[in-house]
Amino acid sequence: MITERLRARTPHSAAESMPRAAAIIRAGGLVAFPTETVYGLGANAFDAPAVARIFEAKGRPTFDPLIVHITDRTDLAHLFTERALADPRIRILTDALWPGPLTIVAAARPEVPGLVRAGLETVGVRLPRHETALALIRAAGTPIAAPSANRFGRLSPTTADHVLEQLDGRIDAILLGEATEIGVESSVVALDVGGPARLLRHGGVPLEELARLLANHGGIVTTTPTTQPGAPLQAPGMTESHYAPTVPLLLAAAGFPTGVTECALLAPDRAALAHLEVLASAANATVHMRVALSETLDPVIAAAHLFERLHELEADLIRRAVPTARIVAAPYPEGGLGSAIADRLRRAAATPQ
Ligand code: TXA
Ligand code: MG
Repeated sequence: MITERLRARTPHSAAESMPRAAAIIRAGGLVAFPTETVYGLGANAFDAPAVARIFEAKGRPTFDPLIVHITDRTDLAHLFTERALADPRIRILTDALWPGPLTIVAAARPEVPGLVRAGLETVGVRLPRHETALALIRAAGTPIAAPSANRFGRLSPTTADHVLEQLDGRIDAILLGEATEIGVESSVVALDVGGPARLLRHGGVPLEELARLLANHGGIVTTTPTTQPGAPLQAPGMTESHYAPTVPLLLAAAGFPTGVTECALLAPDRAALAHLEVLASAANATVHMRVALSETLDPVIAAAHLFERLHELEADLIRRAVPTARIVAAPYPEGGLGSAIADRLRRAAATPQ
């Protein structure tokens, strides 16, 4: 695949490039674009397979929550719950700092794809202070989910050359826009109802400024991420924020797990599900629900719906009130995006109950 270069350095060239870039986003493709912090790698935030392709292009061995980019504060109504929107701190922070390098994390509406949130109940949103970024989101007509446009473990890109060096041929297009003036990522602030704001990542807005703005509204605390075993030390943000299933998940790595009498099955595809079903039956386990992540092995489709499927299995077992039930998952084959799915299942399985 050839990555299209779309010039957007002048208002004139931007106006010419934008319809093409927007069409790619609307068709489920990936467009790298400059913001005032770093270049982002964007996809339609409400198109889960498109979002899965972001992780594929980045070569991420795990799923991190993505920041959703909007052009107007009223767009928040599509992303945050009404309860979250009633928080007066949203108005205080956005009046003072938007457009700009501040990401606000709050309770997500259920329509926000699970992959955007990496299975969490919250979503991070920001309104960038950059003409090209805003023009792209406006032209696409949808909020755009975008992590920094670097490959996994590499530095965040502040020029189009950085992006192309890492992602040329792996993404559909890049908007060559004006420079990223700030050069570090946005500050990420979580607003929990009833608690002080939490700074999840230092970034473009100084902590002192956030503390001053929130002084009469509970202030702001900093959180020190606990290092996960195996997590790269340079990992930004909250490596400890992970989707944790409330129903224990077991991996059927070396045969069907022992001692399971009631279960829901999760497998990479139809064939693997049939195999898992045979193992369950041989183990005399009652199967309440069964899910294949795609018909035939397709990591993009599997990743797109992974968290929704896990939540459905959990909800189903909880509704059936079978406290001994377990989710039994067949391991996902490693390689490419598959490794990120495999990693997430391993982490879900490792969660202490
Ligand atoms: O400046 C920026 O924020 C750039 C530009 C492109 O907007 N984006 C960026 O995205 O840095 P990324 O994916 O590299 O970093 C996103 C970070 C996550 O690693 C996590 O720390 C935090 O934002 N984050 C996003 N959503 C979150 C959530 N629901 N809960 C906790 N942390 C979240
Ligand atoms: Mg990043």
